[in-house]
Amino acid sequence: MIIAPSLLAANFGRFAKETARVAESGAEWLHLDIMDGHFVPNSSFGPHLVGTIRPISKIFFDVHLMCSKPEILLEPFAQAGADQINIHVELGDHVTPLLWKIRSLGKKAGLAINPPTSINMVQPYLDKIDSLLIMTVNPGFGGQEFIHETLPKIQQAYAWRRELKLNYRIGVDGGINFKTAAECAHAGADAFIAGTSIFKAHSLRAAVTKMRKIVCGNKPSEK
Ligand code: DX5
Ligand code: ZN
Repeated sequence: MIIAPSLLAANFGRFAKETARVAESGAEWLHLDIMDGHFVPNSSFGPHLVGTIRPISKIFFDVHLMCSKPEILLEPFAQAGADQINIHVELGDHVTPLLWKIRSLGKKAGLAINPPTSINMVQPYLDKIDSLLIMTVNPGFGGQEFIHETLPKIQQAYAWRRELKLNYRIGVDGGINFKTAAECAHAGADAFIAGTSIFKAHSLRAAVTKMRKIVCGNKPSEK
């Protein structure tokens, strides 16, 4: 089980300190939300910021590109120190070459899917990815309400993984708190991206530990 605090919910005036706080919290990944003001109606930060915080810790950097033209960003983020790069399945014909490019840069490849997009859209790529990122809110902003209608997608991704004997991670991103994390874990998720719920906690370390305990206690019953 992976707990991945999202830096989008951190104090933007203290990126270095917030990164160190996540690294010391016991979280496995740091999730980095990259928004281009086009694919989503917001912008966040870019490869320069990621490269600046990279020396602070060896924690796994999970980069989520909510961008219309990720092809121009793959090399910059690879050089900045990303460990995994997620692109969106909504990019259609571009998905296969993008996944191939991420792998050729020596990085893990992730595929993200928005709430309105059918889970069937990711099926052709399942044997080409390290991680499937199921968006549980419409991307663009932190602090949104979890969309419960996404739960069957997690169950389907979990069923396919067993049937096809694959081992991609199943991540969930958006509106993840202690309650919704339990529901997602029960449906088969094993990577939990959480911004607001983790950063608003008094102790980040305690929040990460509590979330891990909850998701470990709510794994799907089937073997
Ligand atoms: C949504 C982002 C998420 C977001 C999660 O656009 O991809 O990673 O930061 O934040 P919370 O946990 O606040 O919904
Ligand atoms: Zn994200």
